[in-house]
Amino acid sequence: MTKQLRKFSILGAAAALSVVLAVPFAVSTTAAEAPVTEVRNQGVADAPDVDRGLEFLVSDYETRVPTKYTADSWAPFAKALTTASDVADDTSATTSEVADAKTALMTTAADLEAADEGTFQTITNNTFWNDTSGNPIYSQGGGVFKFGDTYYWYGVHYTGAESYRANPTQKYDNQVSFVSIPVYSSKDLVNWKFENRVATRSTGVGDGANLGGAGWVGRLGVSYNENTGKYVLAVQMWHTSRGGHGVLLLQGDSPTDTFDYGYFQTQITNSPTTGTGDQTVFTDDDGKDYLIFSNREGRSRGFVAKFRESDSLRIEPGVEIRRGDGREGNAMFKLDGKYYHAASDLHGWNTSVNYVNESTSSNVQGSYSSEYVLAGTEMDYSHVTQTGFFVTVNGTKQSTVIYAGDRWADFAWNGIGYNQWVPITKSGARPQFHSVSQWQFNVTTGEWRVGPANNYILNPDIQADRIIVSSVRGWRNLGGSVTNVNGGVNGSRFALQISNSGGVEQRRESVPAGTYALGLHARGSAGRVVITGANGSQRTLSIPSSSGWAKRELTGIELPSGAVTVTVRASGSGGVVVDQLSLVKTSDDDPPLPGQRYEAETAPAVCDGTIDSNHSGYSGSGFCNGDNAVGSVVQFTVTPEAAGTATLGVRFANGATSARSANVVVNGTTVGTVSFEPTGAWSTWSTKSLNVPLNAGSNTIRLDPTTTAGLANIDYLDVGPGA
Ligand code: GCU
Ligand code: CA
Repeated sequence: MTKQLRKFSILGAAAALSVVLAVPFAVSTTAAEAPVTEVRNQGVADAPDVDRGLEFLVSDYETRVPTKYTADSWAPFAKALTTASDVADDTSATTSEVADAKTALMTTAADLEAADEGTFQTITNNTFWNDTSGNPIYSQGGGVFKFGDTYYWYGVHYTGAESYRANPTQKYDNQVSFVSIPVYSSKDLVNWKFENRVATRSTGVGDGANLGGAGWVGRLGVSYNENTGKYVLAVQMWHTSRGGHGVLLLQGDSPTDTFDYGYFQTQITNSPTTGTGDQTVFTDDDGKDYLIFSNREGRSRGFVAKFRESDSLRIEPGVEIRRGDGREGNAMFKLDGKYYHAASDLHGWNTSVNYVNESTSSNVQGSYSSEYVLAGTEMDYSHVTQTGFFVTVNGTKQSTVIYAGDRWADFAWNGIGYNQWVPITKSGARPQFHSVSQWQFNVTTGEWRVGPANNYILNPDIQADRIIVSSVRGWRNLGGSVTNVNGGVNGSRFALQISNSGGVEQRRESVPAGTYALGLHARGSAGRVVITGANGSQRTLSIPSSSGWAKRELTGIELPSGAVTVTVRASGSGGVVVDQLSLVKTSDDDPPLPGQRYEAETAPAVCDGTIDSNHSGYSGSGFCNGDNAVGSVVQFTVTPEAAGTATLGVRFANGATSARSANVVVNGTTVGTVSFEPTGAWSTWSTKSLNVPLNAGSNTIRLDPTTTAGLANIDYLDVGPGA
């Protein structure tokens, strides 16, 4: 209860702070600068001002090689490319002919199907990212948009980003001077090539004003307009000589063009005030684009607004889809046919859980559920980020949404790296956020897996809470005194201090079997870290007292798959201070994979019914008593290391007099049926075994009853090694 109250007061303080922060944006140093005379379309040194219209797109698409794609998908693309090339050469072609040629080219390119299975590329968080030329990626508060077969990433480059990267051991409050809006391109969403600066400080914003004179530039996205053939960039802007707060619309002839002024719209109909709170652009499956935003003052309402059909140069009236507590970082994703509006607390670029409202109709502007916290964002406040934007990849094997989190210098000082991207998959009824520090993604199949250098400890740098607290995110207090203190190792902001013989623990539900190394930096009095595996095995790392920071490490920790608990304790009344904890797999060869048990009562398992414990003999803390109805499923999410046929063991009890049968659905496909015969009593348990094909990495296994009797009671699922 004390913890609850404290939490509320923190949120209250932060929300109040955010209102104050909204003003500093407006009085940042840029606003004070003398207006610069507008220079239209000024080229930048490293990007020649070439014609980036249809000809440019044609020359880009002419580099595609037919053997890399299926013949069926190549044929329409080749046809569209020939037409586009003819239109590009035809000096008398009309605007609409050019637009049609572009649309056909991009549509057929988007439908190109790779002839192979693609490859896994590694995404490493908690680092500063570089582009393919080795230069820093400075891209904040933007979005990734797929035009044709290429992903384009737009965002804002601020001066504070450079300061933080050069010296990430302090805050750089209010260093939000606008530098430019760079655009990067990628085919795999991992390797990003710098293309151009679509807007710079000299970009005109109407009435002779330019972006350099704006008090704030941020939160943007791009819409392709089929009628004009233009790419329209919607940017949140505050500019005193342009009437205050609003949405700036710039447009270009290709995704990487140098964009020009289109319109500045201060008021969106139905929003109580001018401008937007935060905004992103969401592109639906049908290519229609929407501005997702909250209102600027208070941010208590969420809106979805269309871009004007004819040219995308106006934002149509907003449709309110949520109202309640103030939210920002508003962004939308779509997964398995449902729309999810996600947003953060009002922490001004600081860390937050993600709050989701999900659509209850098939209309993006229709009704939405009340808000809930996106599972997986609570332990470390969304991998120590604020909501940035989402990228949905519908691969040949699965759909994965990339959560692109924003961890930035200004107001934050929350660790290394600005862009923290993690996968979101559907696990049962709701989406699940996977807080991984390293992962691998295959853009062709949509599959992902945890990376070899992943740190299994959440909030390892003790930065998630943003402020001094006595109960740190992700770590449960075990008594004594616990607090985060200023002055972490290597100039980081916080460390964790435990004194008065106290301790904290963190439990992770599923780590893969293997050999692990535990590491941390410590100073102060003596303490210890105990790591406990799913089989009860324990290893202890002693921490001797030390006046300065010292690195401590314990290697060769054998862990079976399943839950792991890491406990940090102070040996006596003195305080032990720890920071940068890590639990990383060093080898997965030994011990041999023992198979893994997934309890029905443990997330990410889903039980359409209740978790009961009234019939003895179950393992863990209970079993799933599914509702007696068709559609009341039990679903497990399993993560085998290798693809292949796996032997499953389903432990069940059926105290009824007739058998209950279910379809076995793996990754959405029914692969067989299973019959759960009567076991004589609800407390008599039996195991059914079946063989199913599994991918490496995340898989869903669902038992879907075939009759209204529903399922038997389900205790757990064992996944054996590949056969
Ligand atoms: C009983 C039993 C439940 C079981 C249910 C059923 O209510 O206590 O555990 O799930 O029957 O028939 O499904
Ligand atoms: Ca039941």
